[in-house]
Amino acid sequence: MATAITIDPRLGADASSFVSGKHAMLIDGNLVAAKSGKTFPVYNPADGTEICQVPEADAADVDIAVRAARHAFDGGAWPALTPSQRGRLLWKVADLLEQHTEEFAQLEALDNGKPVSVAGVADVPLAVDLFRYMAGWATKTLGSTIPISAGNDFLSYTVREPVGVVAQIIPWNFPLLMAAWKLGPALATGCTVVMKLAEQTPLSGLRLAQLFVEAGFPPGVVNILAGFGEPCGAPLAAHDLVDKVAFTGSTEVGKLIARAATGNLKKVTLELGGKSPAIIFPDADMDTAIAGAASAIFFNQGQCCCAGSRLFAHESVFDQVVEGVSHIGSKIKIGPGLDPTTELGPLVSEEQFDRVTSFIKSGHEQGAKVGTGGKRHSDRGYFVQPTLLHNVRPGMKVVDEEIFGPVVVAQSFKTDADLQRLAAQANDTVYGLAASVWTRDISVAHKMARMIKAGTVWVNCHNVFDAALPFGGYKQSGWGREMGAEVLNNYTEVKAVTVKL
Ligand code: NAI
Ligand code: MG
Repeated sequence: MATAITIDPRLGADASSFVSGKHAMLIDGNLVAAKSGKTFPVYNPADGTEICQVPEADAADVDIAVRAARHAFDGGAWPALTPSQRGRLLWKVADLLEQHTEEFAQLEALDNGKPVSVAGVADVPLAVDLFRYMAGWATKTLGSTIPISAGNDFLSYTVREPVGVVAQIIPWNFPLLMAAWKLGPALATGCTVVMKLAEQTPLSGLRLAQLFVEAGFPPGVVNILAGFGEPCGAPLAAHDLVDKVAFTGSTEVGKLIARAATGNLKKVTLELGGKSPAIIFPDADMDTAIAGAASAIFFNQGQCCCAGSRLFAHESVFDQVVEGVSHIGSKIKIGPGLDPTTELGPLVSEEQFDRVTSFIKSGHEQGAKVGTGGKRHSDRGYFVQPTLLHNVRPGMKVVDEEIFGPVVVAQSFKTDADLQRLAAQANDTVYGLAASVWTRDISVAHKMARMIKAGTVWVNCHNVFDAALPFGGYKQSGWGREMGAEVLNNYTEVKAVTVKL
């Protein structure tokens, strides 16, 4: 059904010309519509209006894309490139992306709702940096020479080879950055990719697809689809010609992906949910700790898998921390992502708005007290006030489950002498993605870092990311690591070669 669509006047010329153009997916080097001809609407979460229509891929498009990726991996131009040439292509994508920083920041703000000022200094530059970092690894997928005891007249060495065709399924919270995290290492190691974008936020990924064409990637190496979980993601995760699937999203769907992969035992990596603790000791620099704890949860509207969503503060500073974080929360400027003065945008979708507000409601029902927030903001769009809940305990839904919104639960702890007990409290979750510890005592900091079961521990900071640092989860937060040298292991097979001399 055709509806009259108005282009947001705050978009620059490039973003508005992209949004108003005809949208296409990237399959086998061509920018194409879905085989079925179907499209679906993309919504602006700041007001719920339709932005545009994009192609809707289903199993038929998945099959064409996977065969193209298979063909590109098994022969042709891609495996013929040298590592240096592969690296240069990735570097070229980084350059192109950087040249379009403002446009991408605007697309993210429009589609996801996040503040454009944040996307312009975080999402886009981090994606650029990731591509550059991974470009460097293209020439450094090293093996080793291994002395063996079968005899001195043997030469044994290992080589790392690309794992093959990779399916990548990404979420909506950092649409461009998640695409970069996944595409960078896969392409650096020489894999080919079929990526499915999140249905809530396909715009930046479809624009990125054009940059891959412009950079000169051979056909079939990168394929980018827009579509929904069941009809598009599921057949991709199950496809027999796919060698590996990499997924970021909910733990629930992560389990489905692992199951879907069993058909041909494809390799699986998963980056899933979290309920990360931020732990404030009484000796911490309180201004830093309070501002840090606030930003740990309110950054990106709380839609971060590593959000500091369980706040623990020592009883002697608990009231100060609750008041401080609440005060910051109450002062945050809420508005549409495209407003350059906005600090907190809407949640990504009506579904997420309903989820988050129903968590807050259950907090009220189970006896939580409100330090700040607790309500929707504006009657239009999917805005939720920055919210702090206290008087909470394990067993309450708001404490046990991932909310994925700007909602933090604050609990106090008693004795700083018994770190083990505190660590047990911090570890009392099925997740293990991240944690932050706020103290000036280096011994306490390192002891906590040892005892916390999570893939990332921050000390006196939270949400610090770098392309060089591995990121991923213990327990039900996932399998494998993204970024750093670590991620290359996910995209390579190791071959041991032994020669009798
Ligand atoms: P989701 O896990 O359903 O979506 C993530 C991606 O998986 C999307 O691309 C989606 O289309 C795809 N997908 C969904 N069902 C699939 C299936 N059966 N087979 C293959 N792919 C499938 O997450 P959703 O529903 O958007 O959000 C629900 C909750 O998940 C959030 O409230 C949050 O708690 C968590 N989440 C965690 C993220 C993270 O970064 N770890 C990101 C997004 C959501
Ligand atoms: Mg879902």
